[in-house]
Amino acid sequence: MREVEENQPPYTGKICCIGAGYVGGPTMAMVALKTGLTVTVVDLNKQRIDAWNSDRLPIYEPGLEEVVKQTRGKNLFFSTDVEAAVRDAAIIFVSVNTPTKEYGFGKGRAADLTYWEGAARSISKATVPGSALFQGFKIVVEKSTVPVSTADAMTCVLQENCPAGVHFQVLSNPEFLAEGTAIADLTQPDRVLIGGSMSKEGIMAIEALASVYAHWVPRERIVKSNVWSAELSKLVANAFLAQRISSVNALSELCEATGADIDHVASAIGSDPGIGPKFLKCGPGFGGSCFQKDILNLVYLCQSAGLTDVAEYWLQVIRMNDHQKRRFGKLIVDTMFNTINDKKIAVLGFAFKADTGDTRESPAIDICGTMLNENAKVTVFDPEVTEDQVLQFRDLDYRRIFDTMCKPAFIFDGRNILDHDQLQSIGFRIQGLGKPKTLEIVSGS
Ligand code: NAI
Repeated sequence: MREVEENQPPYTGKICCIGAGYVGGPTMAMVALKTGLTVTVVDLNKQRIDAWNSDRLPIYEPGLEEVVKQTRGKNLFFSTDVEAAVRDAAIIFVSVNTPTKEYGFGKGRAADLTYWEGAARSISKATVPGSALFQGFKIVVEKSTVPVSTADAMTCVLQENCPAGVHFQVLSNPEFLAEGTAIADLTQPDRVLIGGSMSKEGIMAIEALASVYAHWVPRERIVKSNVWSAELSKLVANAFLAQRISSVNALSELCEATGADIDHVASAIGSDPGIGPKFLKCGPGFGGSCFQKDILNLVYLCQSAGLTDVAEYWLQVIRMNDHQKRRFGKLIVDTMFNTINDKKIAVLGFAFKADTGDTRESPAIDICGTMLNENAKVTVFDPEVTEDQVLQFRDLDYRRIFDTMCKPAFIFDGRNILDHDQLQSIGFRIQGLGKPKTLEIVSGS
């Protein structure tokens, strides 16, 4: 890669972000806080924008409210006026949803780029003579996770629909934040990846965006690449993380069958620096809006390139995840004497992981579905309801809960967060995933 011109003056204009969701909202709040630049986040969804402008933000993230309070109305704005915000900003982030396509070619695998193309068309419509430009062009930044080569398609839509003489530079700047730790991730990112064209204008655009992040991210963590590498890196990062979860979940079943303990195994292998300790916690399966959709997208890319074996390899990560969700539901039914018909079952936690209110693709959906199919009476509690209700489930008064329950009183700890010995001493029958079977299972199936 050609040396980027770091001597270029930093970007000082306005910033716009299309899409006020889990990524657009927190990311732009952080950009506003750290740079002091004027940032406007726009969305077609008025309800969502109203919520961003209210005391009850549309998403829960630890620390988010404080960041928004410090910046909103000063240099951070939320609006439904897409055109005005696009017109006034020379850097426009696109952070719209890119779900799995549910129709036509690539159904169930490819990314649905409808929202993304809608955003591209809004940008070209709003780019009229007199619109804000940087060095004669607008910089459009892909924040959404998209298939490889989407930037080329974006450039085509933009360039063919804007006034003569206006030029665009499309950059890929995938977001690596994780829900639940978004503010910490944004405050100290492991890396900021910026992909762009290697032309003179492309390099100037890369450097303009890098100068925004350089307000708080050390330069050595701002990694520059060509646009296709940046686009692919995001899909691959999520595929690797999900693969680790499926690997440890696969082994949790073996642990149960052999009397080994998955936490002991994870700790033993995680101390190997080549493996590392993170993402080795077994659970009822990964969820969230990204992992499954991004792997399916990767699978589709491989299939489109004729790489059948590579596609099959990554597909297995999802198959294992589905298997884990199914088998946790079955474990519950089997353990409770093969019938949960009419039994009252409390489900603690419905979001796809801790510290988020996001329930998209949560394994709890499948597990509750299994229990409802078996005619159980399911009651769900999740701290997403309001922030001040955030508990940790391990601190509940389990003795009191035990006293009110039918006996035998069962607990199925899908995250292995409870103190199993203590709960057993109270009298519970407790089964964790990947733990030696402690319950006598009566199952005919
Ligand atoms: P989201 O669904 O929470 O938010 C997307 C927003 O874009 C919605 O509010 C929608 O109304 C708006 N929108 C759609 N089309 C629009 C248009 N043409 N004009 C204006 N607004 C429009 O999605 P989320 O979770 O923020 O994800 C956005 C992208 O970031 C996706 O590609 C996702 O894969 C990626 N991503 C998500 C992460 C996450 O943790 N949620 C992490 C990293 C990347």
